[in-house]
Amino acid sequence: MSRLILVSNRVSTPKARGDEVSQGGLAVALSAALRETGGIWFGWSGETIETFSGEINRQSADGVTIATVDLEPQDVDEYYNGYANRTLWPLFHYRIDLAEFDLQFGAGYERVNDRFAATVAPLIEPDDIIWVHDYHLIPLGQRLRRKGLRNPMGFFLHIPWPPYRLMTALPFHRRLVESILEYDVIGFQTSEWLDSFRHYLVTEMGLKIDGDILVYRGRRIKLGAYPIGIDGAQLDRMVTTHNAQEAFKTVRRSAPNQKTVIGVDRLDYSKGLIERFQGYRYFLEHYPDWHSKVFLLQIAPPSRGEVHTYEDIRKQLDELSGRINGAFAHVDWVPIRYVNQAYPRDGLTGFYRASDVALVTPLRDGMNLVAKEFVAAQDPEDPGVLILSKFAGAAEAMGRALLVNPHSKEQISKALERALTMPLSERRDRWEALNDVVRKEDVTAWRDTFLADLRQAEDKLFFAT
Ligand code: G6P
Repeated sequence: MSRLILVSNRVSTPKARGDEVSQGGLAVALSAALRETGGIWFGWSGETIETFSGEINRQSADGVTIATVDLEPQDVDEYYNGYANRTLWPLFHYRIDLAEFDLQFGAGYERVNDRFAATVAPLIEPDDIIWVHDYHLIPLGQRLRRKGLRNPMGFFLHIPWPPYRLMTALPFHRRLVESILEYDVIGFQTSEWLDSFRHYLVTEMGLKIDGDILVYRGRRIKLGAYPIGIDGAQLDRMVTTHNAQEAFKTVRRSAPNQKTVIGVDRLDYSKGLIERFQGYRYFLEHYPDWHSKVFLLQIAPPSRGEVHTYEDIRKQLDELSGRINGAFAHVDWVPIRYVNQAYPRDGLTGFYRASDVALVTPLRDGMNLVAKEFVAAQDPEDPGVLILSKFAGAAEAMGRALLVNPHSKEQISKALERALTMPLSERRDRWEALNDVVRKEDVTAWRDTFLADLRQAEDKLFFAT
């Protein structure tokens, strides 16, 4: 079988053999695919260097070769903090109000994609297949083609694709979309994001799509929805670890007579944390019987701190959580425990299992794996309840959660009350249905379906004859 070349902005560098805690399910699944066929995972080292040299840092662990490259500080500013996280991220999460359009960002984005292409191309052999990940690297395939590479290339977008009219607000949007059409397989998390992409192709570019095949300049391109999932077996192992059990006990011991509502999110404006806190405040106002009987444990590790919109949301959340606690707390009860710390993944599974309700209420999210991990970590005999935003990709298959509009404090509040009082039989029914989905649409299914389609491109099935 041909070797696999993975390319993503961040790569997962395992610190030790079988280190499940530092590697997420996605990294484990991709590393396993690399181990099967051999190959390389290439990306940014996370480090800077004064002048870009293209020198590759190589590291091999557990049969997987990781190759990374250092970038210049200006690259990081313009490509990562700039175009990726100040332009594409907000726009693709429907936050055009936060998107910044700056020619320098676009130039830096293209420069870094060129640098990635120049660095990784010499590592690629003619029989390799290439899988590029996420919004940082949309034009990479095109840049590799310009270097003469004819290998099958796939692209998977981990975040939403925006509706057609939003996309057209991006200066030079067509240039970006034309670059994506150099791949042989283009994958999205859900049919909603795929539909938005198709809408753009049809309306803006006048292209015709036959089923899931787009014919473009004599080439056949496969378009698909490939919902990402978790590694259920890995999660089952983590929940039995010492760390998980300690985390479980810590939560239970800290409030023996209170119900726990949990939220776990990177501190990002797309996660709906302000709206979530406001919904919780509305709940406290309207259901005073619950005072002293419930608390919200919100874990929100800071993220992308060099981008000012992230600083802003952090300040707003500090203030709002402080206000809510100030207004409602008693000497022996604090309604929100707001924690800006990151926890090891196994410890988190213990927190999930100790919780009665999860609030997963992003305003937009490509998929959201917290929803899936929460479900998988539950005790089947006494499972907790998932409250899930309609606007998370995960909601497409997880209809048995309590689905809410995250902008509505009334809906969040009602769902909380319903979840906290839900009879055991209904909790079990819902959980079983959700757990089936989570176990079936797992990370292995995601990876294998995508790679099977990419291998068909290798057999030239998608190419015009
Ligand atoms: C999202 C993106 C990933 C990204 C992650 C963390 O899940 O889809 O590509 O790696 O956020 O963000 P960061 O900027 O820290 O890599």
